[in-house]
Parts: sequence; C-alpha cells; structure tokens
Amino acid sequence: MAIPFVEDWDLVQTLGEGAYGEVQLAVNRKTEEAVAVKIVDMTRAADCPENIKKEICINKMLNHSNIVKFYGHRREGNIQYLFLEYCRGGELFDRIEPDVGMPEQDAHSFFQQLVAGVEYLHSLGITHRDIKPENLLLDDRDRLKLSDFGLATVFRHNGKERLLNKMCGTLPYVAPELIKTRGFHAEPVDVWSCGIVLTAMLAGELPWDQPSESCQEYCDWRESKHYLNPWKKIDSAPLALLCKLLKENPGSRITIPDLKKDLWFTKAIKKGVKRSRKSSGGASESSGGLFKHIRSDMDLSQVSHRSESFDERTAYSSTQPEPRTAIPLWDSNPAHIDKLVQGKGISFSQPACPDNMLVNSQLLGTPGSSQNPWQRLVKRMTRFFTRVDAENSYRSLKETCEKLGYVCRKSCANQVTLSTTDRRNNKLIFKVNLVEMDERILLDFRLSKGDGLEFKRHFLKIKKKLDDIVANQKVSLATT
Ligand code: ADE
Repeated sequence: MAIPFVEDWDLVQTLGEGAYGEVQLAVNRKTEEAVAVKIVDMTRAADCPENIKKEICINKMLNHSNIVKFYGHRREGNIQYLFLEYCRGGELFDRIEPDVGMPEQDAHSFFQQLVAGVEYLHSLGITHRDIKPENLLLDDRDRLKLSDFGLATVFRHNGKERLLNKMCGTLPYVAPELIKTRGFHAEPVDVWSCGIVLTAMLAGELPWDQPSESCQEYCDWRESKHYLNPWKKIDSAPLALLCKLLKENPGSRITIPDLKKDLWFTKAIKKGVKRSRKSSGGASESSGGLFKHIRSDMDLSQVSHRSESFDERTAYSSTQPEPRTAIPLWDSNPAHIDKLVQGKGISFSQPACPDNMLVNSQLLGTPGSSQNPWQRLVKRMTRFFTRVDAENSYRSLKETCEKLGYVCRKSCANQVTLSTTDRRNNKLIFKVNLVEMDERILLDFRLSKGDGLEFKRHFLKIKKKLDDIVANQKVSLATT
C-alpha cells in the first residue's frame, strides 16, 4: 500500500483487520518509537464517514491510563488514519487458555483495570458498546487498555441521559435487555459485558451464544445451576460477583460504584493462587460439546432493533507478541507523533501487504533469536518453521489441508487461504504465509475471519498432521 505522506516511519506489520480496514504497526526508523495506525477506507460503507467522525470525536475526549491513547488523525483522500498508542502485549484474548482461563490473580487485576476504564468512560457520558477480550489490549507492562471506539456513543450530555435502542455489540457479550427491549440504559449493558469478560477470563469459555430464552445455557444460569460449566470452574467469591453482574434485570444489576465495594473485587489476591477452578477443565484441545467460544465475530453493529439480519464483522487476526520480554522504551515522544499526524514524519518504505512477506521476511524476526525490538515484538503463536524447502512446504501444506477438508486457495504469491466451518457452523477463514527466513521456511498462520479459539485449534490440528516437516524448534506458544 503506497501512503504518500510519510517519512522516517515504517509500516512494519498488520496488527489487526476488520470490516473497517486494518490496524498497522508503524515504527520510527530513528527512534524506534511505535504507534498503531488504524487505516479506514471511508468508501467501504455509506455510513463510514459519519462513523469515523464520531470515533475520532470520542477518542479526542479520552485520557485515561486504561484506554488506548489517541494521538491524532489524518485524512488522505478517502482514507482516514487514526494514530493510536501501540499496545505491545497484544489482546487480552490471547491470555485466555481455551476451557481453562487464566490465573485468578491475573483475571482480578485485568478486571479491576477494565472497570476503571469503563467507569471513566461512563463518567464522561460515553458507552463503549462492544466490550470483549479482542477489544482489550495490553501494553508492555500488562496494563489493560480499552480499545476500538467504533461503536461507542454518548448516552449522557449536560447531565441528561438518553436511552439507547440500537442493537450494537457482539452477541455472546450483549445484555439481555438489548435483545428484548426497545429503550435501555447504556451503563448496565457495558457492566454486563464486563461480567462476560470476567467469566471468559476465569473459565476459558463463554457461558452462552446469546442471553435469550431460546438458549438453554442462559436459562440454566437464570435457574442458578452453578454446578454446570462454566460456573463450576469458578470460585465462590468471583462467582458471587458474577451473579450480581449477570443479573437479567438491568435495574437490579450491580452498578460500578457498588461493584467497587464487592468483596472479591476489593480483595488483594494472594500470590500463588493459580486458578479459580473447582474442577479440572480440559486442555485446550480436548474441550467437550458444551464449549462456548471466547471469540465470536457475530457483531450487532448498527442493526436496527429486533432485526434478524446481524452484521458480521471480520475478526481481528490473532497476534501474540511474546509476553514480558525486556524491550527498550516505547513511550512515544509527542514531538515525533505530532510530525506523524501532521504528515511530516513518516515513510512507509516497507510494504505492509502480505504478498510481500517473502521479500520482507527480515521484518518478521526469528523466534527466540536476537532481533531488534520491533522485529521481536511482532512474534506470534501460530507459526512454525519447516525442515523442507518452500516448494515441499507448500505441497505438504496443501495436501494435508485438503485431506482435512479445508478449501485451499493460493491467494497470492507465497500465501494460501484456508476456509472451513467451525464446530458451531460458523465460517472460519485463515491465511498461511510462507516466509523464507535464514534459508528456512516459516509457515505463518493468520486468522482472517471467525472464532479465534477455533482458529488456534485448527492451527494445532494442521501442525500435528504436518509433524514430519515441522522443524524441531519451540516457536509456538499455542502448542503446550
Ligand atoms: N490492534 C489493534 N489496535 C492495536 C493497538 N493499538 N496496539 C496493538 N495492537 C492493536
């Protein structure tokens, strides 16, 4: 992609993709400062210019340590560039082990930070409307940052609250009143989705596809069947809080001021308490039929009330920079960012297009080796080296995937697109880039559309089948 206004900054990696466009990592060639650049093509949808204006306007109002910083924006023709704080810890989503979750003290800390961010938003009269682990990013010190204000809106202005009626968000995370009721309060809807995020962090699964009477798991929850999954994996103190967060009646649901007085919320979690689990959950590859996927791309963006046709928004690709590696400072200098926003300072000399991955293989960095910081920070979990050349890697990949029932298509030079449906019958599409590095071939898998946990499962399945060509090197965090 040729971007005309830039010097000194390189677009080095795609961080995420969506219906709006994509998010790229830009790194200053001299200072190694990093920023995330959200690139929005305003011709994609008729309401895009309006929506992006609103997103920019809301971003400008925000300044909080648990919210992704907004540095500024720039428009070039039909493309809007939003310059944002780069969160090198990746998505909270990637810290959740399928069917297991994460250590309770981590969930506790992330939840406290999430609530701090949401409380701040609400204090300004803004609601996020799409709180989910994919929109919760982590910086280099695991500080949680609420991101993506593409669906956010103002619900209180000059002290006057308005009720909302648009169905917005992602089905497993939305509150029941949003499905059932015409006018509803904004704040309890965000509180509910915080409860679903907490469940996902503590149990590694989502409790239901949607909170409606047609959903058995939701009915079971309403009947307090806590002996069922995911609830039986969760300790009594956080479960008691979940009962207050996931109250069907928004009027009885806990408010943020009361939530901040909750016993579990306020308690200092003892170090060494590893899991909030009463029974053993399955390993990531062995989940049973009750499994509810953490990531769902069923967004209800801008859908009028009671509409049957839900928008599907393309899921972000999973990125997993290595956690907590010591990398020099990345706090961006306002002067450099100013230049960037004004267009005096960036040059995208290195193409961001995956077609060029082979040419630019040096951008990806060798896992585990000494690379410069921005090369190291783009490490991801869903890739491995092969022991054979490019041609044989491609052949094995294609044969194996076809045998496994994937639709395989060579999407561009060095890239294969694999399509299938997951166990919930949702579309799952991912791309495999064949990248030559140090005379070896790296198969780099990237989710294009669908459920992130399913993507990880499929990656593991394919990797296992390709065992005879997988190089004996520990490059995947997802395999353990
Ligand atoms: N993906 C989307 N936005 C991002 C950001 N600001 N930092 C890191 N990854 C991202």
